[in-house]
Amino acid sequence: MIVLDGKKTSNDLKLEIAQEVDRMKVAGSKVPHLAAILVGEDGASLTYVGSKVRSCEQVGFESTLLKFPDTISEEELLDQVHALNTNDSIDGYIVQLPLPKHIDENKILMAIDPEKDVDGFHPYNFGKMALEMDTFIPATPFGIMEILERYQVKTKGKHVVVVGRSHIVGRPMSILLSRKGNPGNATVTLAHSHTANLAELTQQADIVIMALGIPHFLKADMVKAGAVIIDVGITRVPNADSPKGYQIVGDVDFNEVAPKSSYITPVPGGVGPMTIAMLLKNTLLACKRRQN
Ligand code: GUN
Repeated sequence: MIVLDGKKTSNDLKLEIAQEVDRMKVAGSKVPHLAAILVGEDGASLTYVGSKVRSCEQVGFESTLLKFPDTISEEELLDQVHALNTNDSIDGYIVQLPLPKHIDENKILMAIDPEKDVDGFHPYNFGKMALEMDTFIPATPFGIMEILERYQVKTKGKHVVVVGRSHIVGRPMSILLSRKGNPGNATVTLAHSHTANLAELTQQADIVIMALGIPHFLKADMVKAGAVIIDVGITRVPNADSPKGYQIVGDVDFNEVAPKSSYITPVPGGVGPMTIAMLLKNTLLACKRRQN
């Protein structure tokens, strides 16, 4: 069994990005600039956006954090999005999800300039991804593709079961692995809350990708021996022994499943750090495109 080390891989990637930023500086080019819009005080969103901004500093990017109370109106938020679209110093930006209930998420995502949509959530970019055209790939599935590639995990002809059909992870993951190329060329089953006999499907899978959000859902008896296990779960579970008062728990019962697997991502230190590294990669790409 090999643990797919997302922390190390993301650090390797960040180093490669930092070296590229150094070369850009030497050449007198503008360095990439990522902006993030954060609405409200959701603890997890605050943590993620904080990590994104810190990672920008690590690789030499500029970053701007725009923070608004959850009382901001949809119209005011749209004004902020339009301002970022026309701000020439910003190469790419994200609107951290989820947004408060009174704001139509789709309306906001549709207003983002696709050329600055480094999350790859705009239908224009999502469509290009599905059509195997060059575009921004959503960071979490992109990070999974990167880790599969770097560890040379074979996907061609394999049966992948993706559990969870969110627009951010499960749906794009199912598309990416069914595309031509490497990683890709897999036979993909996308399972969700209405799937019958889920365990029967996961037991047949060569690769299981868990993006469900239910702690320790996947048990050893649900996977076949030698399967590749990717855990996207990041649920906060109260834990009085931890300094933060909670711990991050994945969708996979690691202790049970790991001995049966060929490759497995841990939580934390698996998919999570890769997500941020791939957002940086998309921002670098956005910056280079704008300069050409
Ligand atoms: N919320 C959870 N994951 C993400 C992400 O990758 N991007 C944004 N914008 N919001 C998120």
